[in-house]
Amino acid sequence: MNKLYIWAVVFAALMIVLTYLSVGTTEGGLNDDVVNQLAVAGAVALVVISVFVVVKYVRQMQVDTADGDLAEESWDGIGEYLNEVPKGWAILYILTMIWGMWYFTMGYPVNAYSQIGEYNEDVAAHDAKFAAEYKGITGNRLVEMGESVFLAECKVCHGISADGIDGKAANLNQRIEAVAVKHAIMNGANNFTTDFPGGMPPGLNYMFASEAELDELVNYVVAGMPADDTRGAELFAQGTCNGCHGDTGEGMPYAGPKINGYDIATVSSVLKDGKKGAIGTMPKFERLNAKQIEAVSAYITSLSK
Ligand code: HEC
Ligand code: HEC
Repeated sequence: MNKLYIWAVVFAALMIVLTYLSVGTTEGGLNDDVVNQLAVAGAVALVVISVFVVVKYVRQMQVDTADGDLAEESWDGIGEYLNEVPKGWAILYILTMIWGMWYFTMGYPVNAYSQIGEYNEDVAAHDAKFAAEYKGITGNRLVEMGESVFLAECKVCHGISADGIDGKAANLNQRIEAVAVKHAIMNGANNFTTDFPGGMPPGLNYMFASEAELDELVNYVVAGMPADDTRGAELFAQGTCNGCHGDTGEGMPYAGPKINGYDIATVSSVLKDGKKGAIGTMPKFERLNAKQIEAVSAYITSLSK
């Protein structure tokens, strides 16, 4: 037998052994994993086929002699055979040109088809269907729907009971915690959000005579700014807080968010822009649709009532 064949068999065997050593001996390995078994079978088939195709052509180069008519030209003694263009090759050539023209004019480049665009269209269509189907849901059912959204999307950080898992995220059972209020007053707050472009300036703690007075204000905000607390309201005005957050903390468009409780606008603003604060960073949630946002807002609002 020709030496080439012997080398081919040795090489193929070596590749198969190496393949086995790299996957077959790992834990779990080949024994009970069908996917691994299939992958290894495919790798073995590839090795065998490649080796024998290579051998076939190397052999052909060794034994083949050329025949046919030579063209008249000769370059330094090198001639050219008058071969016909192979039919299959010619057909593929023409088909490729036709496909190329189709691709350029009706396929991607001119028509700007994209998978992302298609995905967005599908999502929009689904959202429209979703909105139509659940449009009538309000009240308790909306809150229940919001709880499902919350458990699917928000629980990982905020915890099953929305308590913030020991300070990992905001405790949503109350509008705001003392640390967050104090942090905002001392350091300001600016998430570069589109809803409140100006942000809140740092250093407003200097508007208060003492640490105790500051704490008094913080407690007032944490308590949800109760209407009968006139001293709190006084301090709120003293700190110029009312200039941006409104006299009762109900918020003002573009100037400051509502801080006396939750509503759909507060929560959706956080979802739209994400949030960075005293506790940490919350990512944006662009994948929720309008009804889901309304529902999860209703759920969060219901927690602090
Ligand atoms: C110049 C306007 C302005 C003033 C004055 C102002 N705030 Fe704010 N405040 C904002 C804005 C804007 C935000 C939201 C910032 C953001 O999310 O990017 C904010 C956020 C807050 C928050 C939420 C922080 C958080 O982490 O969620 C609290 C609480 C707050 N302000 C309390 C106060 C108090 C108390 C005062 C008075 C001492 C005050 N603010 C004065 C504009 C203001
Ligand atoms: C990757 C963790 C993470 C996920 C997921 C997450 N949050 Fe948050 N969230 C945070 C953190 C951290 C804060 C506190 C930010 C701060 O003020 O320091 C926060 C704060 C909030 C606040 C308080 C905003 C304020 O003004 O004080 C709301 C409301 C909120 N999240 C709602 C949600 C909702 C609704 C979801 C699910 C759709 C969600 N979060 C998912 C981490 C997360």
